[in-house]
Amino acid sequence: MALWSGRFTEGADAFTQRFGASLPVDQRLYVEDIAGSIAHANMLAAQGIIATADAEAIAEGLQGILADITSGALTFDVMESEDIHMAIEAELTRRVGDAGARLHTGRSRNDQVATDTRLYAKRRAGELMAANVALREALIAQAEANFDVILPGYTHLQHAQPVLFSHHMLAYVQMLARDYDRLAAARNAADACPLGAAALAGTTYPLDRFATAEALGFDHPIPNSLDAVSDRDFLLDLIYACSVSCLHLSRLCEEIVLWSSAEFGFITLSDAYSTGSSIMPQKKNPDFAELIRGKSGRVVGDLVALMMTLKSLPLAYNKDLQEDKEGAMDAADTLEDCYVCAAGMIATMTVNADAMATQAKKGYLAATDVADYLAKKGLPFRRAHEIVGHLVLTCEQRGCDLEDLTLDDFKAESDLFESDIVECLNLPAIVAARTTFGGTAPEAVRVQLAAAKAQLVGFGA
Ligand code: ARG
Repeated sequence: MALWSGRFTEGADAFTQRFGASLPVDQRLYVEDIAGSIAHANMLAAQGIIATADAEAIAEGLQGILADITSGALTFDVMESEDIHMAIEAELTRRVGDAGARLHTGRSRNDQVATDTRLYAKRRAGELMAANVALREALIAQAEANFDVILPGYTHLQHAQPVLFSHHMLAYVQMLARDYDRLAAARNAADACPLGAAALAGTTYPLDRFATAEALGFDHPIPNSLDAVSDRDFLLDLIYACSVSCLHLSRLCEEIVLWSSAEFGFITLSDAYSTGSSIMPQKKNPDFAELIRGKSGRVVGDLVALMMTLKSLPLAYNKDLQEDKEGAMDAADTLEDCYVCAAGMIATMTVNADAMATQAKKGYLAATDVADYLAKKGLPFRRAHEIVGHLVLTCEQRGCDLEDLTLDDFKAESDLFESDIVECLNLPAIVAARTTFGGTAPEAVRVQLAAAKAQLVGFGA
């Protein structure tokens, strides 16, 4: 029997009961729901709205329910209860009678669900932040273990200039550090308490909203009751943070897919993070990198879905809002799994420095430095650019590299070239010369590495 049976003469239709239920999704909120109810009951008693004995019976009953759900002894049926709020309240009343029936005084499921969801969003954002840190640690460990390894840096996926592998890994650490901040911002956005807004307008009982907000660890009660029950911005913020981080992971994983191909051979994934083929015995596929790359699509879909749900919704609560939780939970779960998987994959991959070095020798990666050589001798950079372009064309025609050219070949293009031009053709020297802040020289990358590690201090992996 539904909680609103007083107004109704017919029971629920089996189809609409199932269609309208959110229990399969929101049963995950039972810890938050029980915490919210205990805080509400204690406040009701402190304000003299219900008897202290009733509040005690409620708290004790809810603790028992919490233990039984956690152990699996208590499960709920969607044909009995539409959502976790009604399921727990009905069970409480079964267990403690009238005291349980007093719990919903001055409260609505509208402020209740908003409170539960905010507590959930805060918790999940914190858990994602921890998983984000673990992935950054894996990237940093690979950067340190392969600090001096050089690979071709790319623009347009064409060889551009040599860079340190550690620098490349740290670029992803930077992205993930920003993702961490976005998750923290989402946690802050959720950190305000709707409880006491009731259905939409507040209540006639002398509730202490500041007390419940504080008891639940919220920063403050939400100042407008209509907004309190209908705002889901905090979930958009959480899913947005998840979406951006998934996009970053899709870029990392795209590189892992490329790098583990025969064409690159820059890395070898461990068997644990690879799969074989049911038909081709030789295959070793980077399935998990591909899967992470693919999962970014669904998380962005979760963001768009909730944005569309919220579009044009009138104040205050509308049942449309029940659609908020599934996507938010999916986004958080998916990102968490992707973080864990990516961390394991990165930690266990082998970096093939020789393959990177072989590729770095191709594609005239020294060309910019040769042009800079001329420019530093006073030639306008545009002129230098043209001269080196011509040298590259000569190499193309001869099928050789810049380092195969003789000093006479260089001098034929400009008499500013001297024998020290060979220093500009040496890859470690090219890398080492880029000492600007944030550049790829080992000394600059060491600064970056130290800062990236310092950001993780205090998370204790
Ligand atoms: N199951 C609902 C949800 O997830 C709880 C709030 C329902 N309130 C209502 N008046 N129907 O949004």
